[in-house]
Amino acid sequence: MDQHSAPFCPLRAIQISRIMRPDDANIAGSVHGGTILKMIEEAGFIISTRHCNSQGEEHSMAALARVERTDFLSPMCIGEVAHVSAEITYTAKHSVEVQVQVIAENILTGDKRITNRASLWYVPLSIRNVDKVLEVPPIEYTDTEQEENGRKRYEAQKLERLATKQKNGDVILPMISLEPHTVNFSQSSLIHLVGPSDCTLHGFVHGGVTMKLMDEVAGIVAARHCKTNVVTASVDAINFHRKIQKGFVITVSGRMTFTSNKSMEIEVFVDADPIVEDTRERFRAVSAYFTYVSLDEKGKPLSIPELKTETEDEKKRFEEGKMRYLQTKAKRQSEKLALTQQ
Ligand code: COA
Repeated sequence: MDQHSAPFCPLRAIQISRIMRPDDANIAGSVHGGTILKMIEEAGFIISTRHCNSQGEEHSMAALARVERTDFLSPMCIGEVAHVSAEITYTAKHSVEVQVQVIAENILTGDKRITNRASLWYVPLSIRNVDKVLEVPPIEYTDTEQEENGRKRYEAQKLERLATKQKNGDVILPMISLEPHTVNFSQSSLIHLVGPSDCTLHGFVHGGVTMKLMDEVAGIVAARHCKTNVVTASVDAINFHRKIQKGFVITVSGRMTFTSNKSMEIEVFVDADPIVEDTRERFRAVSAYFTYVSLDEKGKPLSIPELKTETEDEKKRFEEGKMRYLQTKAKRQSEKLALTQQ
């Protein structure tokens, strides 16, 4: 029998809780967006790897292939408990969707609020041969509508992936500009040697580790631009096309592409460089757009100095960023309207 046609329902959900400590904080005193992304990915990795090993003989490790656009709904504070719950919500032949919700709990008052919701796609890779993609055991759905909605999300992300080109040639070169609010003034890079603690048992980097570094660079660019406290507001969909191996050096570079009145868009690239293997080339592993806002001490958004674009490329990127900003703003507003009409 085709493995995919036999519904099977192992334990499909987990919850991980952890108290947020001072070393999880950004300079504004709330929890780093990157720390939250890493916790989300850890929960997704555990549940999807467990699920993918619930049937069949060949063991696998779930590799993060994609994270859908993620909004940071509310800041998480130091001292609060983060409850990260992850559930498998759809299985395709070789990929599995995990939906994650993060709740912040103030354990003194008992108050709880949702801080994040995320949707991630994992692909099982054989432990014996990391280049071999295995089949995913199918889940049982509570009704046909749940399955149909999952299938629509699967088809939509596949289509979007085809439409998104990987920006391989585009590079961010080190520049020094003393003029504030220009692209060169705030652009920043971080170099990291991939060690064992960053990797899965396969010896490849966990997606959460990469996202944390990306958020760190985006945060530095944002803070350099506006010189005030900044927080992550959202991350656009990220596709993880290539694995990054232990021993590689990764360069994470960020540059500002667009500013609205109260938000900034930062483009982040991750390039992997096999320093000790001359035969292998440096490659672009991931790229993504982060949106940051700047908050005053009371958590109110501050105005952002407008980005000064100098070159034709910078002007073009600014216009493209503006389009993305207007599209997501319109989408958020229509979702809000739909909620109030329910
Ligand atoms: N998002 C969601 N699913 C993806 C994907 C993406 N970006 N890229 C591939 N897939 C899915 C395909 O849809 C397919 O599933 P399906 O049959 O259920 O539709 C499955 O992956 C296998 O596709 P295939 O074409 O056989 O494999 P591939 O050569 O595209 O490799 C990965 C897919 C994910 C294994 C490969 O892109 C990879 O190794 N990426 C890096 C993973 C990683 O290291 N993550 C952490 C990075 S820091």
